[in-house]
Amino acid sequence: MNNETANASLYERLGGVFAIATVVDDFIDRVMADQRLNANPKVDEAHHKVPPAGFKYLVTEQVCWASGGPQTYTGRSMHDSHAELEITEEEWQAFLDDFRQTLDKFEVPAQEQSELFAIVESTKEDIVVDG
Ligand code: HEM
Repeated sequence: MNNETANASLYERLGGVFAIATVVDDFIDRVMADQRLNANPKVDEAHHKVPPAGFKYLVTEQVCWASGGPQTYTGRSMHDSHAELEITEEEWQAFLDDFRQTLDKFEVPAQEQSELFAIVESTKEDIVVDG
């Protein structure tokens, strides 16, 4: 590995905004269709009251920002947007399973996957009620 690769941000290693938006597109479609998550009526209702494109936009901003890209996340905080949904540990695990399936589909390498999972895990206590 040369120095340029070693020093590249996660954002750069993932391929920047176009690659990240493509991965988020697949992931949000997967999450929104996941019966394990829609079994929670609050999640089902909140997921389907606004168009998926808006979620994709906000989550793309957020992943770009969290991985070191130039974007700024403009949505609500993870606590404010999830506290009322009563998301359980089981639902959280289903969400992670969807995430893994998307990352595997796009053949995101193990190192980048583990950095992305660490970012996701860092938000867990704001999202899961019984975690
Ligand atoms: C790291 C994990 C997660 C991230 C990064 C994330 C990201 C987001 C973002 C950016 C929003 C929009 C905030 C806004 O409206 O400004 C949102 C809302 C929402 N998320 Fe998540 N989310 C995560 C986990 C989950 C999980 C595990 C579920 C369901 C099991 C979920 C279900 C929802 C729903 C239903 C909304 C809509 C809330 C509403 O508009 O009332 N999210 N999430």
